[in-house]
Amino acid sequence: MKHTLIAAAGLLLAVSCTNTPKTRIYLDESQPLEVRVEDALSRMTLEEKVGILHAQSKFSSAGVPRLGIPELWTTDGPHGIRPEVKWDEWDQAGWTNDSCTAYPALTCLAASWSEEMSALYGKSIGEEARYREKDVLLGPGVNIYRTPLCGRNFEYMGEDPFLAGKMCVPYIQEVQKNGVAVCVKHYALNNQEANRHHYNAVVDDRALYEIYLPAFKAAVQEGGAWSIMGAYNLFEGEHLCHNDRILNKILKEEWGFDGAVISDWGGTHVTEEAITNGLDLEMGTGTNGLDSKYGNSYDAYHLAMPYLERLRDGRASMDVLNDKVRRVLRLNFRTAMNSNKPYGSLNSPEHNEAARKIAGEGIVLLKNENNILPLDLEKTSKILVVGENAIKKMTVGGGSSSLKAQNECTPIVGLQEAIGDKAQITYQRGYVGDLLRTYNSVDTGIDLTDPRTEEELIADAVAAAKEADIVLFFGGLNKSKGQDAEGRDRAAMALPYAQDKVIDAITEVNKNVVVLIVSGNAVEMPWIDKVDGVVETWFLGSQAGHAIADVLLGKVNPSGKLPFTFPVKLEDNGAHALNAYHKDSLSVEYKEGIYVGYRWAEKQNIKPLFAFGHGLSYTTFEYGEAKCSKSGSGYKVTLNVTNTGAREGKEIVQLYISDEESSLERPVKELKGFKKVTLAAGETKKVTFEITEDMLKFYDPEKGWVLEKGKFTAHVGAASDDIRTTVDFTK
Ligand code: GLC
Repeated sequence: MKHTLIAAAGLLLAVSCTNTPKTRIYLDESQPLEVRVEDALSRMTLEEKVGILHAQSKFSSAGVPRLGIPELWTTDGPHGIRPEVKWDEWDQAGWTNDSCTAYPALTCLAASWSEEMSALYGKSIGEEARYREKDVLLGPGVNIYRTPLCGRNFEYMGEDPFLAGKMCVPYIQEVQKNGVAVCVKHYALNNQEANRHHYNAVVDDRALYEIYLPAFKAAVQEGGAWSIMGAYNLFEGEHLCHNDRILNKILKEEWGFDGAVISDWGGTHVTEEAITNGLDLEMGTGTNGLDSKYGNSYDAYHLAMPYLERLRDGRASMDVLNDKVRRVLRLNFRTAMNSNKPYGSLNSPEHNEAARKIAGEGIVLLKNENNILPLDLEKTSKILVVGENAIKKMTVGGGSSSLKAQNECTPIVGLQEAIGDKAQITYQRGYVGDLLRTYNSVDTGIDLTDPRTEEELIADAVAAAKEADIVLFFGGLNKSKGQDAEGRDRAAMALPYAQDKVIDAITEVNKNVVVLIVSGNAVEMPWIDKVDGVVETWFLGSQAGHAIADVLLGKVNPSGKLPFTFPVKLEDNGAHALNAYHKDSLSVEYKEGIYVGYRWAEKQNIKPLFAFGHGLSYTTFEYGEAKCSKSGSGYKVTLNVTNTGAREGKEIVQLYISDEESSLERPVKELKGFKKVTLAAGETKKVTFEITEDMLKFYDPEKGWVLEKGKFTAHVGAASDDIRTTVDFTK
């Protein structure tokens, strides 16, 4: 189709140019995009073509000044717009007008299971990118959660390809309405930070097509992503920034991607592969800027002078070059040269309200015994807050997603502002984690040093806990190296910094304890039976404290559900059970295949600590019996859901499907639908799922996607381990 378009564009161009001076059609935005691209391409010199295929600074690539084609500016990251950096450095440039709204991490967005929130997120962050005059937003990340140790899981959207795919699409569409391209990352198989530049992922085609590619495919085919970022790691021996099968064969040919493949920063290693294996825009290649024989270190990039030399002496294809140039021109015409894009806005009340709303919809109430939550300030007069994560800012650190937030409300401040004098709030540190306060020269301004020993910290917390009506323990992880941060994985799934000891000691003297986990990853909870409440609060950004207080005080009824499994222990995870996760091996074999997350737990009959899709509410919901009927070539499953509690709530109704008879082994069941419904107390709504033939298919390495006749079962429930009704149907 696209080739036809290009041919037609070329013909149209030829005709339109025969009898008139070469009008600059590429500037006429009323013309079809392909016509404009062909016109611009026809005017560019070889040097100009190569000039737009690589960086000119840390985050920008050149335009074509002679033709009035502007530079392209990229920016991190998925949760907010990174502060301006110096021309050729990671450190911030020291501007005073580049702070941003820090949105919740994408694990929180995924946990909202709300496509409405995803759209709101994309609109808001897209407006901030546009206002900062950025053309490409380096996100969202949709890599599948394969191991709880991956340092960047907080940037991604969980363990299920269907959920990650559905949840990234509205974000993408809304960002791009601002004339800002997304750059969906890290394509593909970048499921750990350990050894990320060097490990070769060994993955069977079934797992590749059923688990690791679908979210990217949805981003391209449903989201319409204008650019994609190649990953650092290798697959079948080729780096993903220049991988013929993944970039040319699957992304561009099979999926019809017409955008640009942008390398991860420093992810380009081999000139010949960079030329032939699908890379279009080379960024961040490690040159020391000094010994380049070309003078300017950016000229030493693989797609710079080395490429130009090969083109000049006929060692490189002009057709391949022109395809790259077309893709980068399309990216430019859709963004930098798009004169219809909005102006954008930065740090507006609307953006902060959006951040707070998304956070409130993503927070997950994991345990709530004795209705310890929401806090009842009629009965609770003395609240003890314990833990470093109650006072620590989490928007600084973590790697490229680190931000300079205009504001960040910490949990303790959010609680103090919400509670005021309605109760007494005291604080105890409990433990000292990491004193990190700066990243890329952005400083939180908070000095976390504390001279006390571990024992003294625990003793002080216990003494205070004896006097409190309730203890809120804020623990979890943080954005320091080895925690939830880029470039390294966690060493273990346990909570760091002796937090378990603090929780154990507090529960000895106070039975009313709620543990709030600030993290982007699952953690072990050996104390789970000693506490009444557990809340996963994720990394929530600027509005963290307000959103957490909203939920703890019941202003917001929690409705989030887990986008990934919380195993009891690391060995309950497939990659670790099969010893298939390696930190320093050059080869990582994904031995668990398609059995990732709940797929593994259900295959092995392992009861997780908290299951995929689990999340409680301050109200209760009842599910009616599911009915199934033919609907076109597929089926329709309908059921009633009723709010049987005393207050309004949102319920995420989940549809899983199992294939009862298949020629290849399939998971027990797989997520194929979800609906987030708002129900007033006592209200009943009818929920309908459409089951298409595509939803019933599996990938056969010999035949491709196949739909086999036979019996299927639709499971509808509140979580993967909380199925309320099932109905069989036959295809
Ligand atoms: C980093 C990350 C990528 C980021 C890029 C630019 O190494 O892998 O996600 O967008 O480089 O900072």
